[in-house]
Amino acid sequence: MTTKSMTVRIDRHGGPEEMHLVELPVGEPGPGEIRIRHHACGLNFIDVYQRSGVYQLPMPLTLGMEAAGVVEAVGSGVTHLKAGDRAAYASQPPGAYSTARVMPAKTVVKLPDAIDFDTGAGMMLKGLTAQYLLKKTLPQGGLKPGDFVLFHAAAGGVGLIACQWARALGLQLIGTAGSDEKCKLALEHGAAHAINYRTEDFAARVKEITGGKGVKVVYDSVGKDTWDKSLDCLQPFGLMATFGNASGVVPPFSPGILAAKGSLYVTRATLFTHIATREATQAMADDLFGVVTSGQVKIRIAQRYPLAEVAQAHRDLEARKTTGSSVLIP
Ligand SMILES: NC(=O)c1ccc[n+]([C@@H]2O[C@H](COP(=O)([O-])OP(=O)(O)OC[C@H]3O[C@@H](n4cnc5c(N)ncnc54)[C@H](OP(=O)(O)O)[C@@H]3O)[C@@H](O)[C@H]2O)c1
Repeated sequence: MTTKSMTVRIDRHGGPEEMHLVELPVGEPGPGEIRIRHHACGLNFIDVYQRSGVYQLPMPLTLGMEAAGVVEAVGSGVTHLKAGDRAAYASQPPGAYSTARVMPAKTVVKLPDAIDFDTGAGMMLKGLTAQYLLKKTLPQGGLKPGDFVLFHAAAGGVGLIACQWARALGLQLIGTAGSDEKCKLALEHGAAHAINYRTEDFAARVKEITGGKGVKVVYDSVGKDTWDKSLDCLQPFGLMATFGNASGVVPPFSPGILAAKGSLYVTRATLFTHIATREATQAMADDLFGVVTSGQVKIRIAQRYPLAEVAQAHRDLEARKTTGSSVLIP
């Protein structure tokens, strides 16, 4: 059986105007695949990198890495899902900005009944990222309750989830954000301290808050604009966990800088290494579903757009106008 999907596609890298809603045929799932009908699609900053060409991909390209919906059909070898299941995912390849698609089943998980589709679409990529950052991307000796960590863009999609999860773990998360209102939001969601990095020197404030000691980890998704000062926020042997480039890609650096600033460690982490297997994906998703269904982490869907208005959604995200998660409704 072939069905149709309205899908967002680009023919070349460029601005939001390059995104077009096109009708594409969707066939039967092959071995290891499912066909899913989306009820909500997640908006993520990685979609901007893929659209603009920060991450170069072959054309034409369908966009979107996160969604929730109902499984319509499963291919041979798929045993963890069946037609009719509510499901959600954060996954390669892109193509989630669509009404329906065929995709690998490996990183699709059943969505608990207690979690609605909008929440599912707004939490998978961002929540699994917060999970691997706070639970697996750790300094030597790990993190223990009371420890300070610095988390940039704390009022964003990943940021608001990380604030709440860090509080649940007993960590003192120092969040940065681009306005006083965003700082307030980060504090309301569990940040122990918040710094407006557009008006304050965040490295000086981090030193002040930590009594001159610095933090054990910096989680930095802003990239170019925050890299240098973030290194100055770390304790000796601290970990610089860089995981995004919202302000631009971090330029090449000499490892000698890590010695000069106290035998620091650096990792450039990506979710896709962590969700490489079905077992790992399910374990991380179960952890995420646990903190969401218990109420420790609330998913703030602060923006909703019809799928046809995806260009506006990208403009708002790039202009730093959004907070928390955004979803596209197909
Ligand atoms: N490596 C991974 O596994 C992984 C997975 C998920 C997400 N990420 C990264 O994590 C970050 C957050 O993702 P998200 O989808 O939740 O986005 P988001 O945090 O909701 O939006 C990005 C935020 O970055 C801040 N920012 C600072 N400088 C900016 C600039 N020049 N232009 C635009 N934004 C700027 C803005 O907050 P302020 O105004 O408060 O500064 C903005 O709201 C992104 O960099 C993303 O690529 C990485």
